[in-house]
Amino acid sequence: MAMERENWATRAGFVLAAIGSAIGLGNIWRFGYLVYKNGGGAFLIPYFVALFVAGISLMILEFAIGHRFRGSAPASMRKLGGRGFEWIGWWAVTGGLIITMYYTVVIGWAIVYFTKSLTLAWGEDTGGYFFGTVLQLSDNPWDFGGFATEVLIATIIVWALNWLVDFRGIRKGIEKANLLLMPLLWLLAVILVIRAVTLPGAMEGIEWYLKPDFSKLGDYNIWLAAFGQIFFTLSLGMGIMIAYASYLPEKSDIANNAFIVSLANCAFSFLVGFAVFGTLGYMAYATQSDISDVVAQSVGLAFVVFPKALNMLPALKVFTAAVFFLALVVAGLSSSISLVEAVSSALMDKFGMERRKAVNIVVLVGFLGSIVYTTKAGLYWLDVVDHFINYYGLVLVGLLEVIAAAWLFDLTVLKNHINSVSEIKVGMWWDLAVKFATPLILAVLLILDIRGNLT
Ligand code: PHE
Ligand code: NA
Repeated sequence: MAMERENWATRAGFVLAAIGSAIGLGNIWRFGYLVYKNGGGAFLIPYFVALFVAGISLMILEFAIGHRFRGSAPASMRKLGGRGFEWIGWWAVTGGLIITMYYTVVIGWAIVYFTKSLTLAWGEDTGGYFFGTVLQLSDNPWDFGGFATEVLIATIIVWALNWLVDFRGIRKGIEKANLLLMPLLWLLAVILVIRAVTLPGAMEGIEWYLKPDFSKLGDYNIWLAAFGQIFFTLSLGMGIMIAYASYLPEKSDIANNAFIVSLANCAFSFLVGFAVFGTLGYMAYATQSDISDVVAQSVGLAFVVFPKALNMLPALKVFTAAVFFLALVVAGLSSSISLVEAVSSALMDKFGMERRKAVNIVVLVGFLGSIVYTTKAGLYWLDVVDHFINYYGLVLVGLLEVIAAAWLFDLTVLKNHINSVSEIKVGMWWDLAVKFATPLILAVLLILDIRGNLT
């Protein structure tokens, strides 16, 4: 009766697809920005604490839920807790879809910049170029009538690529795409690091990146940002990892795969940090300014500060620029693909819909939602939605997930399931992380954010 569930052809295919989802714009654009905003190396401490306390445990949990209940987030949550729990899964994928609506536009910016890198078209005033020429940002946040045409076209391309991959399904689409994109992405990253660290002044930038300023650790905002980033960067709370794990064959490792995916993701961020801060160090050297001045110049790290640094490179400007923006595109696409799949699989499970029809619907809705960010008012809304959805989407969903799985459901069922298939056995530490540490931290995060927003 029921159609056989698709599955991954190989373990590597699943692992690479999950890594592809995790490694995204967040690892390049957001991570670098957060590090510089939060006092350089000081940020790395809460970041790795968040990874080990909440990130990996939740990755294991999401893999376990998807694998055990063999369904997308809504279907799995329903099997876990009953009818009353399905909405948590819908909330997760809806939040994810809302993120993807602006995320695909940022990939679009990267495509535009990739095409511009051949001539370094951004010129000297990279800020004016980004906000004025590319985004055509208006002073009026309600200016939805005017479009930034190139951004709109690039966004259409991004959605078309998402459609093409997900339409073809798990093995022929997502698995194949990541088998190609992931090695390419790591290669691009390594090229960028080598280019950066061989520049004069790079070491000062890297020193700034790695030197922890312990005095900053007392500021709870840094911790908040770190836990928020871990959620975002590991693609948690969006139903993605649940959906991807639901396509695993029965005899598949969970805990070890979760470790591999989480560590590979954060290793990538850490690695790219050398490229970002090495390049910024060079920029400080070239302009004879202090590294903290260069770094603090602008929030548009990838699209304003970086192009400026690219202009100043002593050699290989065009090549490095092309590699950088291509890396952004590749990182972004493998993530947006995963979210389109998470929503599509939810529709397939719920309505017994054909894959193709589900993907058509998700891509159409997603694209229509993207349009607002391609208008001249787009950037204002992107900032607002980014913040709002990260907390009231991902973080809240994460909290609901752990409450449902660890408190309302019998966590030992999931634990036994994990330990029956995994190389690494999860012990007491996992119970403690999922039952106490994670819900507590997520709840605190939400409360602090609500308070911060009200005052
Ligand atoms: N993990 C992704 C990143 O860090 C976030 C993301 C995943 C966003 C899937 C959208 C869709 O960039
Ligand atoms: Na990705």
